[in-house]
Amino acid sequence: MKQTTVVQHVQEQEKKFLGATGELASLMNEILAGAKIISLELNKAGIGGDILGATGTRNVHGEAVQKLDDLANSTFLSIISKSGTVCAITSEEMENPVIVPPEQAGKYIFMMDPLDGSSNIDVNVSTGTIFSIYRKKSPGDKVTDQDLLQKGADQVAAGYVVYGSSTMLVYSSGHGVHGFTLDPSLGDFILSHPDIRIPEQGNIYSVNEGNTENWGDKQKKFISYLKEKDRASGRPYKARYIGSFVSDFHRNLLKGGIFMYPSDAKNPSGKLRFEFEAGPMAFIVENAGGRASTGSERILDITPTDIHQCVPLYIGSRFDVEAAEEFLRN
Ligand code: AHG
Ligand code: MN
Ligand code: MN
Repeated sequence: MKQTTVVQHVQEQEKKFLGATGELASLMNEILAGAKIISLELNKAGIGGDILGATGTRNVHGEAVQKLDDLANSTFLSIISKSGTVCAITSEEMENPVIVPPEQAGKYIFMMDPLDGSSNIDVNVSTGTIFSIYRKKSPGDKVTDQDLLQKGADQVAAGYVVYGSSTMLVYSSGHGVHGFTLDPSLGDFILSHPDIRIPEQGNIYSVNEGNTENWGDKQKKFISYLKEKDRASGRPYKARYIGSFVSDFHRNLLKGGIFMYPSDAKNPSGKLRFEFEAGPMAFIVENAGGRASTGSERILDITPTDIHQCVPLYIGSRFDVEAAEEFLRN
């Protein structure tokens, strides 16, 4: 049986659709190198060493930084900044962008949530890495806001790695969504889920229902609607919430359903970050036939005004996200 690796797959996509410079395949190869290191570290977390737990500091979002957040951030940063394919890197864990010196720079901007769901590491629950790739737009060597604050729809590629019962990479370069599973004996990611399509409707909803008292009435009504009995429309839906966005998203991508992090009294713009979480996953879900919205606006139509901007998020099966939008309108 012929096995396809990620790099072969990206090279093919570049040839067919993107103009074959090989730079995207080469960047993807570096992302995989980082992902393999993190995957191994997570596999042995807890055995000796001093790798679990918090660093005692807080990131720009006010969240407790875990040691593995730092490790993932510095691992991807050092590998990717030397890859010759990017001119700037932004990260959920870094207040400011890292600008690559022009002599080592390439044409892409790389954005990452190095370790998503990191509060789940200590309890052996799946985590992930999310990334997004844009092209440098401004002329000359200088990296400007035109490069760092781009409209979601202008992504060249986006993907995530899920460190779960197996380690998987899922990516899109705008032509389908493709999943690869890490074969630990080979150290290679092998195509296992070609051309993923999200079901048009699911029967799962994923939201932190502990926040109910902070929600607005329309959000409360939508969740009540999903819990009503109505066999014809497949209700009640099942509740599934891991608290690792990558894992919740991955399950819903394969099975169908809706993930939400709505606006609430504590977080009027929701909790998830446009550049590191909502934007890349919106690019993936749309390429799989799904939908992503703030409730009133398509996520990919947003141009952020700040690297760390948050947006309310409704993402998943087309029908389910449209139903949420309908509730939030009325
Ligand atoms: P991160 O670990 O990168 O900070 O992200 C955590 C995010 C996301 O993974 C998850 O869906 C959400 O936070 C969970 O938030 P609540 O605990 O507020 O439900
Ligand atoms: Mn995250
Ligand atoms: Mn994170």
